[in-house]
Amino acid sequence: MRVFDNLYRADPAVVDEIDRTSGAELVEGDVRYRASVQRALAGVDLVVHLASIAINKSVVDPEESVEVNVVGSENLFAAAAEAGVRRLVFASTASVYGEPDELPMSEDSPLKPQTPYCISKLASEHLLQFYGRTKDLDWNILRFFNVYGPGQRTDAYYTTVVLTFVERLLRGEPPMIDGAGEQSMDFVHVRDVARAIVLALESEQSRTIVNVGTGTQTTVADLARILVKIVGADVEPQFRPRDVLVSRRAADIRRAADVLGWKPEIGVEEGLAEVVTATLAERSSPS
Ligand SMILES: NC(=O)c1ccc[n+]([C@@H]2O[C@H](COP(=O)([O-])OP(=O)(O)OC[C@H]3O[C@@H](n4cnc5c(N)ncnc54)[C@H](O)[C@@H]3O)[C@@H](O)[C@H]2O)c1
Repeated sequence: MRVFDNLYRADPAVVDEIDRTSGAELVEGDVRYRASVQRALAGVDLVVHLASIAINKSVVDPEESVEVNVVGSENLFAAAAEAGVRRLVFASTASVYGEPDELPMSEDSPLKPQTPYCISKLASEHLLQFYGRTKDLDWNILRFFNVYGPGQRTDAYYTTVVLTFVERLLRGEPPMIDGAGEQSMDFVHVRDVARAIVLALESEQSRTIVNVGTGTQTTVADLARILVKIVGADVEPQFRPRDVLVSRRAADIRRAADVLGWKPEIGVEEGLAEVVTATLAERSSPS
């Protein structure tokens, strides 16, 4: 196994652990450079494309996100087709749906990407399908919903709220909710996501776009209540009157079951309890 990453968002401790324990070869390189990508693909049979500039950064610097997410993806798809890669799985996002007209969001729901990140992910989906049609590159596209799990970055856009609430609770403070906390997310655990990726590499069916979520909506207010219970804190979530744009998320996951034989196995309460435990362990470990 070979990992290709420019280490832009890498935690050195995690990189070191992967290096020592996984047996994977780490190649430091940038998807924006076709020649580096071509070299890294020598002898490679299956590819998982995860490299990306995240949503919040894309709003600040649209050009960079187009260069990495669109030009970088095109480099990889072209080089994979040229190298005879057997299948490529691309990490897309539920954000391509924008604000949904109805829930759950199915793969055939209207696409209304709002930011350079979402626009670049949708462009990459189309580019991959182009290489599928014209160069016979086999593919599956996974649209991840709100991925979370132990070790997640504190600046992860969708999941910041989880860590902010956990940090407040550990300081004995109540979670602070803007507005009525009606905004909802579809939290899917990173190990379930990893399983979906492996199934998408191996499935009999390919050239399919598949949602990877749980189908369960968790509102910000639900999240606060779940975390208060897990931490066992003697506080009630507090609400700050604010005008909040209420967005909602819930995946239709029937296609994931049909095409990949995948269903999420980790419920949000169980998964969040793991995040709390990991956050506590991180706080108490000497750094
Ligand atoms: N985390 C989520 O909730 C979520 C939701 C939907 C989709 N996704 C997608 O899943 C994938 C993984 O998400 P994540 O949260 O782990 O993202 P992340 O930002 O933590 O990881 C992206 C990785 O890409 C690398 N990278 C960035 N620019 C690069 C470049 N120019 N060349 C090579 N490598 C580069 C970074 O160093 C990092 O290791 C991304 O494509 C993301 O868009 C994530």
